[in-house]
Amino acid sequence: MTDTKTRRQTSENRIVIAREPGGPDVLDVVSRPVPTPAAGDILIRNTACGVNRPDQIERLGFYPAPPGAPEGLGLEVAGHVEALGEGVTGFSPGDAVCALVAGGGYADWSVAPAGSVLPVPDGVPVADAAGLPETVFTVWANVFETGALSQDETFLVHGGTSGIGSTAIQMAKAAGARVIATAGTAAKVAQCRELGADIAINYRDTDFETVVTEAGGADVILDMVGGGYVQKNINCARVGARIVSIAFLAGSRVEVDLMRVMLKRITLTGSTLRARPVEEKARLAAAIRQTVWPWIAAGALRPLIDSRYALDNVRAAHERLDSGEHAGKILLDC
Ligand SMILES: NC(=O)c1ccc[n+]([C@@H]2O[C@H](COP(=O)([O-])OP(=O)(O)OC[C@H]3O[C@@H](n4cnc5c(N)ncnc54)[C@H](OP(=O)(O)O)[C@@H]3O)[C@@H](O)[C@H]2O)c1
Repeated sequence: MTDTKTRRQTSENRIVIAREPGGPDVLDVVSRPVPTPAAGDILIRNTACGVNRPDQIERLGFYPAPPGAPEGLGLEVAGHVEALGEGVTGFSPGDAVCALVAGGGYADWSVAPAGSVLPVPDGVPVADAAGLPETVFTVWANVFETGALSQDETFLVHGGTSGIGSTAIQMAKAAGARVIATAGTAAKVAQCRELGADIAINYRDTDFETVVTEAGGADVILDMVGGGYVQKNINCARVGARIVSIAFLAGSRVEVDLMRVMLKRITLTGSTLRARPVEEKARLAAAIRQTVWPWIAAGALRPLIDSRYALDNVRAAHERLDSGEHAGKILLDC
């Protein structure tokens, strides 16, 4: 243990900062002391970390880190427990874990609140588990808790091959729902089907509202597009549907006719994950461990990995993110 502590004290921690708002070239790998876990926190020696769309928005200067968040980009990691803060139980040094972090995930070492840490699920390599926390927490919170998706309902997800979408398709299928997904190329449509989507739509050449309506409508819709999709989602939603917005890639200001919301008793809602209190994330983690981790152990859910880059090559990883050509998760090896 002393050896481990000494190694930590004499090591440097690479983190990634955006030195100003801008493109991938504003990202710099800089050196910081290895963090010390505060009471209730776990220090993780990262094997890999996930790259997510919110990181791009933060890089562009539109998504400031919440107060008190660790310095640097990165919202999810996987690796091994290095040290426990005071009062942490249930984990031991050396345990393979994955975690949500409020910042500082692109790093050799990261600190996570113990309630945001989960064991690496059976059957998933530690390096791939870095692609799980951000998407699984987001899908669980929005589709299963807020959206209350249940077996035999129809679920519509846009951006079907995004990190979020690829996870949502698999989780909804594991729960016994019928899944309809949209995506922007023929190859991505094929991937949606491989992930389990019953119906996959190329939104560039086919009107999703027509297809979903003809298929009987959707009970739960997970939307990251906004813009013109807002009215179309309302139009193809079933009576009692829940429409959950998690992003507005095509804009958040829209004019909609709320008449159908009233007549169909639709719930329009949304949320963000990062700003939720630590206790709330711990509650989500417990529910995920109970319900979603067995789906992974049973082979019903895998992180779809698009590509991996070395941490020092983070700019290339963000170029890939900006290209929009990726399908699934982009990971950084630490
Ligand atoms: N609220 C929350 O708690 C929360 C948490 C995590 C992520 N998010 C948000 O969820 C979204 C997905 O995140 P991610 O990391 O999974 O992203 P990602 O892997 O980078 O995927 C983004 C997807 O959006 C689609 N897209 C982009 N612009 C579009 C447009 N104008 N119309 C239709 N589709 C469009 C792209 O698919 P096509 O090529 O098929 O168009 C792409 O697959 C992001 O916007 C992110 O900010 C929200």
